Amino acid sequence: MTKNILFLRILLLTPSMVLSVADSFAEVDLENGEEINEVCAGCHGEFGQGGKEGEYPRLAGLPASFIAKQLELFRERTRKNLAMVEYVDHRQMPDADIADIAAYISAIELPSKLAPVDESAPGFNAYERLLATKRVVQIPRVEGDVESGRKLYRRECGSCHGSDGWGDEDDGVPMLAGQYTNYLWRQVEKYREKRRIHDESSPEDELLSEFSNSEIRDILAYLSTQDD
Ligand code: HEC
Ligand code: HEC
Repeated sequence: MTKNILFLRILLLTPSMVLSVADSFAEVDLENGEEINEVCAGCHGEFGQGGKEGEYPRLAGLPASFIAKQLELFRERTRKNLAMVEYVDHRQMPDADIADIAAYISAIELPSKLAPVDESAPGFNAYERLLATKRVVQIPRVEGDVESGRKLYRRECGSCHGSDGWGDEDDGVPMLAGQYTNYLWRQVEKYREKRRIHDESSPEDELLSEFSNSEIRDILAYLSTQDD
């Protein structure tokens, strides 16, 4: 219960979120969101931390409006996702549920590291420490030219995905930092093959096809350093 009140306060304290998301978000039911999350947890993890090195993306912290939009795209089959399709049809997930789960997952904050502790100190609780480590998402650094990736990112991606890669809550643009590299690569390929639409306001935009694989690799290498 306390946790729900906390989440609710976070929502209320973020006016941009309330403004940017459809009216249905004004009255989200976070307890319902938490309940729905039990289904999602089977693949995306209890805290939306993702799994299997990006086979299941991290969801925690994505803008609520982005999460809701992807669930609708899966439901319409505009974005193909065989793994999820049975969970998102209208019967399983009416619009109100989409708003609740999107708000719930979006508000989860995950640390990228834990403060060191002295395990021999009195009061050290090994079980609590173990639980805390489950929430940590630390994207391993990947090979590539980080400096050249940083320049490319700043010039070509940062205006939408945020100057450091952490997304844009107001515009519902997902973060790329803190997300699994394998997952991001797969999505770049989907955009290039037009299985997903990158920029709805100009669907013919071929931004990601204009970069070589080694340039994308450098951008992803830069992004993988952002949560260090
Ligand atoms: C059986 C496994 C499975 C379950 C259960 C599942 N998902 Fe997924 N989900 C996936 C996979 C796999 C992907 C990645 C698809 C791809 O590569 O495009 C995904 C992608 C997503 C994305 C897109 C993320 C992004 O960054 O674009 C969202 C949002 C999402 N899931 C939300 C949910 C929610 C909410 C639930 C619970 C109602 C849920 N998922 C349950 C497997 C699952
Ligand atoms: C004009 C704004 C804009 C620019 C510039 C832009 N993006 Fe995006 N990007 C978006 C939006 C909006 C989405 C979500 C689209 C959707 O619903 O699939 C997105 C989604 C993505 C995703 C999928 C993330 C996920 O969680 O599913 C990847 C990967 C990505 N962009 C990479 C890039 C890279 C790399 C660059 C720079 C070379 C870039 N983007 C530049 C707007 C932009």
